[in-house]
Amino acid sequence: MQILSTSIEEAYDRGTRWSFPRYNPGDFPCVPIRIPVFTDALSRGFNGRLQVDSLWKCGFGTADVYDCQVRYSEMQQMDKAGQVNKQLTNTCRTLRISDDDFQKIQSLVYEKAGINLHDGKKSLVQSRLSKIIRRKGLEGFREYYNLIVRDQSGNHLVELLDAITTNHTYFFREDAHLQWLSDTILPDILRLPDVQRDGEVRIWSAGCSTGEEPYTLAIHILERCNFPARYRLKVLATDLSTKVIRIADRGEYPEERLQQVPASIRQRYFNRVRTEEGTSYYRVNKEVRNQITFRKFNLLSPFPFRKGFDVIFCRNVMIYFDREVQQRVVSKFVQAIKPGGYLVVGHSESLSGVEHPLKYIGPTVYKKSSAD
Ligand SMILES: C[S@@+](CC[C@H](N)C(=O)[O-])C[C@H]1O[C@@H](n2cnc3c(N)ncnc32)[C@H](O)[C@@H]1O
Repeated sequence: MQILSTSIEEAYDRGTRWSFPRYNPGDFPCVPIRIPVFTDALSRGFNGRLQVDSLWKCGFGTADVYDCQVRYSEMQQMDKAGQVNKQLTNTCRTLRISDDDFQKIQSLVYEKAGINLHDGKKSLVQSRLSKIIRRKGLEGFREYYNLIVRDQSGNHLVELLDAITTNHTYFFREDAHLQWLSDTILPDILRLPDVQRDGEVRIWSAGCSTGEEPYTLAIHILERCNFPARYRLKVLATDLSTKVIRIADRGEYPEERLQQVPASIRQRYFNRVRTEEGTSYYRVNKEVRNQITFRKFNLLSPFPFRKGFDVIFCRNVMIYFDREVQQRVVSKFVQAIKPGGYLVVGHSESLSGVEHPLKYIGPTVYKKSSAD
């Protein structure tokens, strides 16, 4: 924890790691498994879809209410165990948010995180925040909003942003980018004069969520890119959400989160750990973890980096920003990328409508001129 006071740049430079308290099952964010409609048997007793999207069974043997849909088979198991009604009763008690209070939350989240909570997000905001409001014993959204804006510590704001961010991610997501990395980006970067001089390749996973993206990048580079031993790989992985960055730093995942990970990779880069309760999870091994520095960082903040990055991956993050915020963030990325370096955005994103000097190399892959 003490390393939180170290600057992001310093920590990244030194490759510092910091440790968090042990895993708390309720901490783990959702595994988004969708079941849009329940069968008659299960839908009896609760009203259509209601807040079933808030149920999540975490991988450590504890069922918890979280913002995700639950697997049908799990619902059946819980139903048999008589837990469904209990869970649903808890989950159903969503408070109603007025238009005025929703606007206040919208503006606050936009100002602090750049996240554009359009009107279609009202029910999501309502259900996610209801849980916090109930837990705190507050009366409603107005009281909660006032608590956040008056809180000098900023802790309530952190909790709000943790609840509001969408952290969906998985290992080997958008693997076409991995192909780009091994075939084009990395060979190109290894030819850059300052990479050759400094002997380090600097990659930033900006908006890394629970860590699957930076771990995937490091594993892919070690495994598939013939990464020369004389170079050092340095991955900086950051996210706005305190909750997800802690999980990312721990690098421990329940088995269901490794579904996209080929067996050979699982064997080589993960260690299976059994808890005393008999459940097991997978921990990313040291070889990979040592390449990555995790930090909490808001992309709206001034960038503190003295040295540039060879590649920035910012995938499925700017989708939550409006054009104005995208423009601000992309302009900062352009400054932070070294001449000849790359920016990779998510497959459903593009930089159209955003002004930038980068060259389009392929779908969602952009390059900064070596002369800039
Ligand atoms: C959907 S996840 C994407 C994870 C990963 N990049 C991927 O593609 O799988 C989006 C992440 O962006 C983060 N995020 C949203 N606004 C941010 C901001 N202003 N600064 C930093 N991270 C932000 C969220 O906390 C969330 O974890």
